Amino acid sequence: MLKVYEATCTAPINIAVIKYWGKRDTKLNLPTNSSLSVTLSQDDLHTKTTCRAAPELKADKLWLNGKEEIIAQNKRLTNVINEMRAQRKKLEENDNSLPKIADYKLHICSANNFPTAAGLASSAAGFACLTFSLATLYQLKLDNVELSTIARTGSGSACRSLQGGYVAWEMGEKEDGSDSHAIQVASREHWPDMQAIILVVNDAKKKTSSTLGMQHTVATSPLIQHRIKHVVPKAMEDMKTAIQNKDFDSFAEITMRDSNSFHAVCADTFPPIYYMNDISRAVVNAVHDYNAAKAAMGSAQKYTVAYTFDAGPNAVLYVQKKDADNVLGVISRIFPAAEDKNIYSGFNFNDQEIDEVLAKMNTPIYPQMNAFKRIIATKVGDGPRVLANE
Ligand code: DP6
Repeated sequence: MLKVYEATCTAPINIAVIKYWGKRDTKLNLPTNSSLSVTLSQDDLHTKTTCRAAPELKADKLWLNGKEEIIAQNKRLTNVINEMRAQRKKLEENDNSLPKIADYKLHICSANNFPTAAGLASSAAGFACLTFSLATLYQLKLDNVELSTIARTGSGSACRSLQGGYVAWEMGEKEDGSDSHAIQVASREHWPDMQAIILVVNDAKKKTSSTLGMQHTVATSPLIQHRIKHVVPKAMEDMKTAIQNKDFDSFAEITMRDSNSFHAVCADTFPPIYYMNDISRAVVNAVHDYNAAKAAMGSAQKYTVAYTFDAGPNAVLYVQKKDADNVLGVISRIFPAAEDKNIYSGFNFNDQEIDEVLAKMNTPIYPQMNAFKRIIATKVGDGPRVLANE
């Protein structure tokens, strides 16, 4: 019987603290600025992909969360699959002992372990996982930095999900994109205390996709030129230093400022793009009030918690482990849960410590019950994993 070749891998999501927004090449997803993200734990959120190559398969096929995607109609998928197959072909041409599997058709099955409806960016984990599992199947001798340039052609932010910990996507200069890749700034172990709380905002409104949104911004916003030239380069350097030094105050301030800068260029786009909503803005105010209250209570830190928002209303809070329970506890009071559907059940809060901080804050209670659909508490994590390879 002819052999079936198969690999199954998982890949993490990442949330940028310095945002990618703008392309200088829309086919290769080459960005107009470098960006930096934190990879989140795959124990909580991941994409899992199985790739199979076998002689009896008649056509390349791909299923995403159980639904078939027509590969030929999806340029992002063909970019990645064609390149990975070309890489395998090159290997086979140079080594006659290798089985000729590049010519076999592929069946690919990919699923997220979190609901797509949660509004979380799943394309980063998805394209990182597709690239990594094909590299595993084809036994390519490319490292994760080289693989990141291929994942990038599927979705820009995907290149950062090939590494764990703290990851910089260096924009590069070359036209072919070969130097536009993701590099690890620091591993998870370097600063393992970093936690993320994702507040999934209840919002059914349709948003402008990142791909289209950033193209409108580049075409119409004068402010983005300032961001690209004068804001991001310094923020990248300062953020790398903050991470090296495990300096949460600097990490938090750069993160919040960059989120604000990104949403400012969205507002400067013409017509403007608004991703944040009233709930998002209430979270921003609550975080600033919380930080001020803790500082007034004698905390050695200027900032205890930082927010960041991607192309949607969901808030991602970065916080160190020691502060995570209190931050979420205070959030649970400002954004109360409905009695019949408590989104905070499962967390253990210290009411007295929460009361102490709340007494120093003047933040109004948000009027809508369950302003959040879901709360995901997670932490910094590692890069993609191989689960099976035969
Ligand atoms: C706001 O990577 O989704 O999340 O390259 O067109 O697929 P494409 O865009 P995408 O954009 C992500 C934008 C962001 C910021 C970030 O993750 O850096």
